[in-house]
Amino acid sequence: MSAPRSHEAHVAGQFGPQAAAYVASTVHAAGADLDRMAARMRAVPGARALDLGCGGGHVAFAVAPAVATVTACDLSPEMLAAVASEAARRGLSNIETQAGAAEALPFPDAAFDAVLTRFSAHHWRDVRAGLAEARRVVRPGAPALFADIVAPEESLLDTHLQAVELLRDPSHVRDYSVPAWCAMLAGAGFAVERVDRFRLRMEFSTWIARMRTPEAHVAAIRSLQLGAPDAVIGHFGIEPDGSFWLDSVLIEARASSVSEQV
Ligand SMILES: C[S@@+](CC[C@H](N)C(=O)[O-])C[C@H]1O[C@@H](n2cnc3c(N)ncnc32)[C@H](O)[C@@H]1O
Repeated sequence: MSAPRSHEAHVAGQFGPQAAAYVASTVHAAGADLDRMAARMRAVPGARALDLGCGGGHVAFAVAPAVATVTACDLSPEMLAAVASEAARRGLSNIETQAGAAEALPFPDAAFDAVLTRFSAHHWRDVRAGLAEARRVVRPGAPALFADIVAPEESLLDTHLQAVELLRDPSHVRDYSVPAWCAMLAGAGFAVERVDRFRLRMEFSTWIARMRTPEAHVAAIRSLQLGAPDAVIGHFGIEPDGSFWLDSVLIEARASSVSEQV
């Protein structure tokens, strides 16, 4: 038996050594969701923005030119160091970094005018606590943008997705469906204003390399893919080499005021 460790240490152990790969990742570095986040932030000039679960920093880099400051927050010190270094290389002097867990943010109430998070919440041990914290640290009325991989609502497809995600990255917690996201956001005090869906092609060899997936797990993923029913193969567009398509979403919301929440 290996020594006990927290989920947060597990996540940081998965991501930390791969910080440079996440800065360089083309899947993460561009996308219509990032463009939309930057456009939304241009409507709030002077904002203090929070990038929650910043990873390689692509949200922070995209919105920094539009806002006063971006605080890039992540569990992984290595990710934060990579973000600080890349921000300096790009001349983005208004990005600061802060270590912290989404579920217990190290910021006072209403410290920010906007919160953004992308491809991170599916790793959070307690997503409801993380969303409650996101709501606590922004002022009422603040824009709140949530992008993540989403699960299909059909259980057959959902189970395949969660299985391959967990095999690829043992710190995976859950990809939520869009209705689940909307319900959790409402519960945390966010009013959903717009939902945009996207599809992302995962090139198999780079998808597993980014997480250093062990060979036995790669074989198990390939076995699941090869034995999958037509409905699964069709939905995820599984290709002969294992490359496939993920569904993602960008949910634009607004932090409700206390009177709106009752
Ligand atoms: C896939 S990366 C994020 C990608 C990045 N946001 C982007 O748009 O390119 C996921 C990040 O979430 C971070 N993370 C996971 N769970 C977290 C938590 N509970 N609190 C804060 N950060 C967390 C990980 O350390 C990792 O850096």
